[in-house]
Amino acid sequence: MPSLVAPAMSAGHLAESDQPTLPVGGDVLLRPWLLTDAAALMQAFQDPAIQRWHVRRADSVDEAREWIEGWQSSWQDETGGHWKLVDAESETLLGRVALKSLILADGKAELAYWMVPSARGGGLCPRAVMALTHWALGKGGFHRIELEHSTANRASCRVAVKAGFEEEGVRRGAWLHADGWHDVHLHARIRQD
Ligand SMILES: CC(C)(COP(=O)(O)OP(=O)(O)OC[C@H]1O[C@@H](n2cnc3c(N)ncnc32)[C@H](O)[C@@H]1OP(=O)(O)O)[C@@H](O)C(=O)NCCC(=O)NCCS
Repeated sequence: MPSLVAPAMSAGHLAESDQPTLPVGGDVLLRPWLLTDAAALMQAFQDPAIQRWHVRRADSVDEAREWIEGWQSSWQDETGGHWKLVDAESETLLGRVALKSLILADGKAELAYWMVPSARGGGLCPRAVMALTHWALGKGGFHRIELEHSTANRASCRVAVKAGFEEEGVRRGAWLHADGWHDVHLHARIRQD
């Protein structure tokens, strides 16, 4: 049955270009993941807060490498975009910011993030979120970027607010975590914001 609405983004829009490297400010960059980042990724997932809010752990460098392979191929498949946040001078891993659950026809994606413990508390995550969102709603071609967090995760809510994501409401009992069901706070930015 023909649709009456033209897709907001056509298939191939992302994959026809390489995944970009994005400046965040200072020496900090958002870069596509490399397989050589696997050991640092596994190390980051030893952190209890990352395990708690991302509901998984990495038990080996091989496992972390498999995640990175999936993240790399998601750009070609147009199912996701996964960036590492890195200090360009030292190559130290600072965090991760990602676009997932892409629906190109609706011009929509969800944003996710974590920071390694030593990089927290300096406002870097909101800056990285703003840099990626600026690209996504501009050159990237998206219309709407959603950001969700458990209502129990106040630090994540602060990131959303500081990065200019409007609060749109609460989805009750929407996520199952290791400690049970969580209510989820929805924020979003649209191109006109
Ligand atoms: C949530 C998270 C990404 C925030 O990143 P960040 O770069 O520390 O962000 P900010 O510096 O802007 O701090 C955000 C809030 O974290 C809290 N915070 C401040 N210093 C902190 C520290 N050293 N450690 C943890 N949280 C801290 C504060 O509430 C702060 O809000 P404020 O600026 O209004 O005081 C980071 O804490 C993290 O990775 N947490 C574990 C994983 C996670 O929660 N991921 C998000 C899932 S939705």
